[in-house]
Amino acid sequence: MKFADRIQKFPANVFAEMDQAKRQALDAGQSLIDLSLGSSDLPVATPILETISQSLQDPSTHGYLLFHGTRSFRQAVADWYERRYGLSIDPETEVLPLIGSQEGTAHLPLAILNPGDVALLQDPGYPSHSGGVYLAGGDIYGMPLLAENQFLPVLGDIPAAVLQKARMMVLSYPHNPTTAIASLSFFEEAVQFCQDHDLVLVHDFPYVDFVFSNQQMPSILQADRNRHCSIEFFTFSKSYSMGGFRIGYAIGNAELIASLRRIKAIVDFNQYQGILNGAVTALTTCEADIQTTLDTFQTRRDIFVSAMNNIGWPVPSPTATMYIWAPLPEPWQQKSVEFCKQLVAHTGVAASPGAGFGKTGEGYVRFALVQDPDTLAAAVDRIASFLHT
Ligand SMILES: Cc1ncc(COP(=O)(O)O)c(C=O)c1O
Repeated sequence: MKFADRIQKFPANVFAEMDQAKRQALDAGQSLIDLSLGSSDLPVATPILETISQSLQDPSTHGYLLFHGTRSFRQAVADWYERRYGLSIDPETEVLPLIGSQEGTAHLPLAILNPGDVALLQDPGYPSHSGGVYLAGGDIYGMPLLAENQFLPVLGDIPAAVLQKARMMVLSYPHNPTTAIASLSFFEEAVQFCQDHDLVLVHDFPYVDFVFSNQQMPSILQADRNRHCSIEFFTFSKSYSMGGFRIGYAIGNAELIASLRRIKAIVDFNQYQGILNGAVTALTTCEADIQTTLDTFQTRRDIFVSAMNNIGWPVPSPTATMYIWAPLPEPWQQKSVEFCKQLVAHTGVAASPGAGFGKTGEGYVRFALVQDPDTLAAAVDRIASFLHT
């Protein structure tokens, strides 16, 4: 059988290798503590489930939902931006429901890139950002995110020859996997840069609510109030623990929204209407539940960071996201994949190798805090026994 060249170009998927390593550990009798996926273990809030359950009983929700979803969903999104950021958004032309942020960020490059065009991506970054560029036949320029630059790209370092071919830039803060945050002034610099170089600016924003201080995370649309070049992606997977429900949205420049809708019109018929209804309930009535979720993750963060300090592997305490981005100790510093494979084989603790997020991610591992405090403490005990034998 012959397959398309684009499939051959996909980079080796480290996470698939890790999946296999987890399965082998289970087969060998290890009890798994899975800290490798950013999939929340917390239940979805009752009002959201009730809305979805009521929708299930209503046959009018059972058919195809055409491409830009329901008016009530788009309006709830626009109202949320008005409340949170004081931005006035047109729900008809500037909002589009998605089957998750992964779907939207992976499809958008098909609307922007011609084969050979360049996308400027964060390295390390989220795999759907690069995957979408490969699907579209584009080339990637990785903007290295380094600790000494607070994991922000240095825009002035991008070579002029790259910029000539570049059509889009993708940013995402609070950032998975480094846990870094960005300021509004950095976003203003990025918007100006993208306007100067005629680039589409994509901001993936799943962790907008996942901040353990009272700081409000800026939206890229605050820095691009007239929506000249920007589009932002949100998912209900994190703030509302709805990862399995597959619901998110894109918001921003009307031409970008329309072009993404044209791509999606070929690929899908939208998420189920009952889930859109549940998402409306989330946006309109579940602020207090988000605070409870954050408190839970903050407690987990504190327990995990302090336990890691106690075993002699100091890790920074993140101000945002549900992750710990841990610099590997000697002798594992440039061997994140090997470290994670060995760790899961010997202890059953699964983490994500930094190299899986891009070459600048090498030297780190990512732990997702998606287990209760006792399990996290048990994981750190197992890590200690692995490091000290
Ligand atoms: C940066 C980033 N984008 C997108 C996603 C996926 O979101 P969704 O569940 O909406 O596809 C994640 C999930 O971890 C993420 O961290």
